[in-house]
Amino acid sequence: MREEKVGILVISYGSRAAAMIDALNRSEEYKVRFYVADKQRNPFNVKHAAKHVVIPDLDIAKICEFVKANKAEIDFGICGPEQPIIGGVRDVIERETGVAMICPTKSYAIEESKVAQRILLDECCADANPKFKVFPRAEYASVSEVKRAVWQFLDEIGDEVAVKPDTPAAGKGVGVWGDHFTSRALLFEHFMSVFESTDVLIEEKVIGEESSFQAFCDGKRLVPLPETRDYKRAFDSDSGQNTGGMGSYKTEVDWLPFMNKKDREEEEKLAQMLFRRLRGDGSNEGLRGVPLYIAFMHTGEGAKILEINSRPGDPEILNILPVLKSDFVDVCFRMIEGNLSSVECEKKATVVTYAVPMDYGGYRSKYSGDRRVDLSAVHALQQKYGADLRIYPGSMELRADGSTYALGSRTVCTVGIGDTLEEAREVSLDGIRHIDGALWNRWEIGAEEHVGRAVRRMDELRG
Ligand code: AMP
Ligand code: GLY
Repeated sequence: MREEKVGILVISYGSRAAAMIDALNRSEEYKVRFYVADKQRNPFNVKHAAKHVVIPDLDIAKICEFVKANKAEIDFGICGPEQPIIGGVRDVIERETGVAMICPTKSYAIEESKVAQRILLDECCADANPKFKVFPRAEYASVSEVKRAVWQFLDEIGDEVAVKPDTPAAGKGVGVWGDHFTSRALLFEHFMSVFESTDVLIEEKVIGEESSFQAFCDGKRLVPLPETRDYKRAFDSDSGQNTGGMGSYKTEVDWLPFMNKKDREEEEKLAQMLFRRLRGDGSNEGLRGVPLYIAFMHTGEGAKILEINSRPGDPEILNILPVLKSDFVDVCFRMIEGNLSSVECEKKATVVTYAVPMDYGGYRSKYSGDRRVDLSAVHALQQKYGADLRIYPGSMELRADGSTYALGSRTVCTVGIGDTLEEAREVSLDGIRHIDGALWNRWEIGAEEHVGRAVRRMDELRG
C-alpha cells in the first residue's frame, strides 16, 4: 500500500538519474513526487516529474533557488553527478533551505583531487597504492625544467606509467603507456596537454582486471553493494579512447567471474579502512550517500586502487538500482537518519549497454546528420520482457513537438536483467537493436568471450 507522500529533489545529469527515479518510484511504502533539476529535458525525467527545471550547467545557486521555491514539498534531495557534489551542492542546499541532501559534503568530495587521493591512500593502505609522483604547475618555471623532472621519474620507475590530471576529467584525460603513447616523446606530449590546465600525476601502470566497488553510507557505516565491471574503452576488445563508460555488468553474486570471494573481502577491507580514516571516531554525516566508489585493478600482487569517486558510478549504479530489493526511498531515509545497516539485492545478473552518438568516443570524427532518436520500438519490447528490460535516456532531449534527440554524450542505455549474464546481455542487446536512431554501441558488454578472457588473464597473472 502506498500511504505516505514524499517529495524528492533529483539532480540529474544523465541516465543515472533516470535509474534513481525509477528505483524511487517502485517504492511500495511511499508515493513519490519528483522535483527534478535537469541538464536538459530528459524525456524520462519530464514524464515522471511533478516539477522539472532545466539548468544546463547544473549551477548550484540555481538549483538552490529551485529547492527554495518548492521547499514545503521536498523531503530530501539526491545528487549523482560529480560537479555539483564537488562544488558543495549539499552544503549550500542544507544551509540555505534545511532540505537534507544525499551525497557527500564538499570536504568529503574526494574525487576532486587524484593527488589528494594518492596521499590519503599512502597514509592508510599504501600496499594498494601504485607508486606515484605529483607534478604541481606552481613548481616548475619552464617546460625544460618539468621535462627534466618527468624524465628523472621515468628513469626511476620505468616508462610503463599512467599520466593523469589532478582534477576529474570523466576518465578522459588519463593516458596509459602502451595504449595512448609508446614513446617518452608522446608521453610528454600527453603530459603537457594536461599540464596546461592542472597539476599532473604520473603513476606506475598496474596490470590486471578492473572492477568497481560501490557502497551506500549513512555516516556511521559503509554498506557495500555488489561488484560491477565498467567498460571504459570506446571499442570492443577494449581499444580506443577512454569514455565515461560504454556499459557494465554484474553477475548473480557479489563479485565478478575473474575474482573470488577473498578478493571481494580484500576490497571491502580496504574500503572500510578508508572509510574509518575519513569518518574518524563515531559518525560523520558528511560522508552520506556513495562516498566511496572505488575503481580497483586486480593484479598478480593483489588489489590496487586506480581512483576513488564520491558518487554512484554511471553506468555502474545502473546494474544495481533495478535489482534493489530494499525499498529505495526507505534506504534514502535511513541514510539521512543514520540507521542504514544493510541493503538487499536480487540474486540476478544485469547488463547495461549504452547507445551513443556517432561522434562519441572517436567512432566518427564528425557527424552532421540527423540526431533524432525514437524509443517507441524499444518501449514496445518491454511487453515481452516486462521488468527485465529497463530503458534509461541520458543525454537526450525532449522537444516541444514530442520528438526526442540525441545531444553530445551517452544517449540512452538498456539494462537487461536475467538469471545468468548471458540472459541479461541478450535482453540488453535486444533492447539496443530496437532503438531507432544514428547511434552506436559496444556489443561485448558481459559477453562470454570478454569475461572468459578476463578470467584467463587473471589466472595467468596469479600464476
Ligand atoms: P581513472 O580515471 O583514474 O579511473 O582512469 C581511467 C582508466 O585508465 C582506468 O579505468 C584504467 O583503465 C586506466 N588507468 C588508470 N590508472 C591506471 C594505472 N595506474 N595503471 C593502468 N591503467 C590505469
Ligand atoms: N563509470 C565511470 C564513472 O562513473 O566515473
